[in-house]
Amino acid sequence: MAAEEPPKMEDLSLSNGKPSPDEDVVDPWNVVGSADTGIDYEKLIKRFGSSKIDQELIDRFEKVTGKPAHHFLRRGLFFSHRDMHSILNQYEAKKPFYLYTGRGPSSSSMHVGHLIPFMFCKWLQDVFDVPLVIQLTDDEKTLWKDLKVEDALKMADENAKDIIAIGFDVSKTFIFSDLTYIGQCPEFYRNMIRIQKCVTFNQVKGIFGFGDSDPIGKIAFPAVQATPCLSTSFPAIFNGKKLPCLIPCAIDQDPYFRMTRDVAPRLGFQKPALIHSTFFPALQGAKTKMSASDPTSTIYLTDTPKQLKNKVNKHAFSGGQTTVEEHRKIGGDCSVDISYQYLTFFLDDDEKLSEIRKNYTSGELLTGELKKILIDTLTPVVQGHQERRAKITDEELRLYMTPRKLNFEC
Ligand code: TYM
Repeated sequence: MAAEEPPKMEDLSLSNGKPSPDEDVVDPWNVVGSADTGIDYEKLIKRFGSSKIDQELIDRFEKVTGKPAHHFLRRGLFFSHRDMHSILNQYEAKKPFYLYTGRGPSSSSMHVGHLIPFMFCKWLQDVFDVPLVIQLTDDEKTLWKDLKVEDALKMADENAKDIIAIGFDVSKTFIFSDLTYIGQCPEFYRNMIRIQKCVTFNQVKGIFGFGDSDPIGKIAFPAVQATPCLSTSFPAIFNGKKLPCLIPCAIDQDPYFRMTRDVAPRLGFQKPALIHSTFFPALQGAKTKMSASDPTSTIYLTDTPKQLKNKVNKHAFSGGQTTVEEHRKIGGDCSVDISYQYLTFFLDDDEKLSEIRKNYTSGELLTGELKKILIDTLTPVVQGHQERRAKITDEELRLYMTPRKLNFEC
C-alpha cells in the first residue's frame, strides 16, 4: 500500500492559482493559453499545487484494479490529481467511496469535449464498481448567463439525456438538477449552509475574482458545487455515512475543489480527491478550449455527419504546410494540429496513432488525409451517441433523476 500523500500547503492558501499577466488563464469561465501549443500543463500543476499523474501512479492503478489503464491515462490526457493514492488505498482495503462529477447546462446540446470527463467517469465507474452522483448546476447557469430558471431546468433535462447516453449504470448513478433536488433534500441544504459558514467573502473573491456588483447568488454558489463532496448530502444513497469521493473533471473546475478541500476536514469529512483532464481544444487551435457558447469552435453532439465534416474541413487548425510540395518536404506539426490532437482523444489504437504521427510529421500524410481520418473516427462516435440518446424515454430520465437507494452497500 502506498503511503498517504503529505498534505499540500496549496490547499490552505485559497487564493493560489491566479495567473500573472503572461501566464495561461484557467478558471471555471475562461481558458486561454499564452502560446499556440495551448496550455502549459506542467506549469499549471505547479501553480495549482496538484500532483502530476506519473508512470508510478499509472502502474499502481493497473496493479490495484487488475485492468489496463485507459488511453486517456496512458497518453497524459488525464494528467494531474489530488490524493489519487488515497482512493487506491481505499479500493485496495475494500472500503467504499463514490464518484462525483457535473455539468453546467448552458446549452441544450453538449459538445464532444464534454464527453471526455464523462467517458472517463464511466470507465472509472465500471472499473471500481462504485456509485456516481452527477450535479447539473442549472442554478449556476441561471446566475451567470442570460437564462431564466425555467430555461435552465429544460437544459438540465436535455443535458441529462446526453449524459445517460454515455452509458452510466442506472443502478449506480444519480443525476440531479440543483434547482430541483436542493429543495427536496434538507440534508443537502444543511451541508450547503455549513460550507457557506466556513468560507468568507474575501476568500471567494481571492479564488473566483467576484466583485462588489456581482449578484449575491454567484458569491454563494461555490458552496453549492462543494456540497456533493459531503456524502451525507445524499441520504438515500449513503444513509448518513461519511465516505470519501473522487472527482473526475477538466482542470478548469479545480478552484471549486481547492476551496472544498480546505473546508471538508473542518466539517469532519475527508478532502475530496480529484483527477484532472487537459482540455479538448477549440477547432481554431489549442489556445482555447472547446466551448458550448462558441458555435464555430465547437462540434456539438447534435451535429449531422455533414456539419461535422464541414466544421473539420473548414475550421480545424492545421499544422501542415501551405502547399503540397512544401508539406512533403518539411512535414506537418502535430503539436499544433487540431485534427491530430482530437485523434489522441478518440482513436484508442496506439499503433495507428503513432503511425499517423510519423507519417504526418514526415510529410507523407497530407492535411486533407489527416482530416478525413478524424472525420471517419469522430462521425461514428457522434452518430452512436445520437442513436443511444434518441432511445432514452422520459421514464428512464426520471429514474436516473429520482433520489433513491442505489445498488451499493456501505
Ligand atoms: P461544464 O458544463 O463547463 O463542463 C462539464 C465538464 O466538462 C469539462 N469540460 C471539458 N473537458 C475537456 N475539454 C473541454 N473543452 C471541456 N469543457 C468543459 C468540465 O471541466 C467539466 O468536468 N460548474 C460545472 C458543473 C459541475 C461540475 C461538478 C463539473 C458541478 N459539479 C463537479 C465537474 C465536477 C460546469 O459548469 O461544467
